[in-house]
Amino acid sequence: MNKKILITGANVGIGKDTARQLAMKNETEKIYLACRNETKAIAAKKDLEKKTGRSIFEIIVMDVSDIDSVKTAVLNLPEPIDALIMNAGGLGGKTRDRLTKEGATQIFASNVLGHVVLTDELIKAGKLKNIALFAGSESARGIKKMGLKPPELKTSSTNEFKSIIDGTFFGYKTEALVIYAYVKYIAALWMSAMARKHNHMRFITMSPGSTSGTAVLDDISGFKKFRIKYIMMPFIMPLMGMVHGLEKGAKRFVDGINNKKLKSGVFYGSKLNVLTGPIVDQSEFFTNLRNTTIQDNAYEAVYKFLK
Ligand SMILES: NC(=O)c1ccc[n+]([C@@H]2O[C@H](COP(=O)([O-])OP(=O)(O)OC[C@H]3O[C@@H](n4cnc5c(N)ncnc54)[C@H](OP(=O)(O)O)[C@@H]3O)[C@@H](O)[C@H]2O)c1
Repeated sequence: MNKKILITGANVGIGKDTARQLAMKNETEKIYLACRNETKAIAAKKDLEKKTGRSIFEIIVMDVSDIDSVKTAVLNLPEPIDALIMNAGGLGGKTRDRLTKEGATQIFASNVLGHVVLTDELIKAGKLKNIALFAGSESARGIKKMGLKPPELKTSSTNEFKSIIDGTFFGYKTEALVIYAYVKYIAALWMSAMARKHNHMRFITMSPGSTSGTAVLDDISGFKKFRIKYIMMPFIMPLMGMVHGLEKGAKRFVDGINNKKLKSGVFYGSKLNVLTGPIVDQSEFFTNLRNTTIQDNAYEAVYKFLK
């Protein structure tokens, strides 16, 4: 049973609604809201207390793109948690391509690298008991209806994955959504490798599906943002099974940590031509996801930035 849960990026969107839904379960005793902005975190905590009638939320200040901040947060965590939900992330904003001091792009650090350190530090400190869930995205296996191809690598070598992490893989004009897809692809591969290395625990990558009512698309610029956020998402995509509400997106994370039938190491998300509805193993659509050599190469590439 997952009584104590830590959620990164829990001040808005899917992370916050996951916290709300978990707090509605009697067995939940504590929810750590790991957020980079303390003011936003305090406002979220108050709102969650009001909505759920429970005082079980604690704030942990953590900027996932900053390794020192992640390590300090783990030290400050007063007790072991049962479940970790790695939800923070997104398209990376205007500083997406900027390199961190480890040499990773900001978009990679805020979605993946900080979460890698978080998971490892929690395990090392004996502070993670049952399950780690990562917020994946169907973009990592391609979304035909949105014109997104599955990631196309020449060799899937460690060096090629490294070039995705430091951004040199991409051309100057590569779209944010494309970079995001490759970043989430590496995360899913890393999670599968972790599942094989730590078989006393469970590692699930779960896409929330295309979820409205969040800020994730705010980083797309210009007309494309207008088209997706204000025309496609509210009016056209729901009719095509291409978007669902916040509650459904967050429920996938709640079920992801609680459903024992889900297999460790698997990346779950929507069926092929929709971004909502029942979840299935995404490696059915992109078999690279289940290739252990590719998983290990991605895993190795990630740790090159942490030496
Ligand atoms: N919405 C979708 O359709 C969709 C689909 C597939 C996957 N996902 C994934 O689901 C997760 C949640 O998305 P969302 O739609 O709820 O997005 P959102 O509304 O933009 O929320 C993202 C959260 O992550 C936090 N965050 C970003 N960078 C951070 C950092 N460096 N350190 C700490 N926190 C950070 C944000 O904090 P601030 O408020 O301080 O910026 C915010 O709390 C993301 O990983 C996203 O990629 C979303």
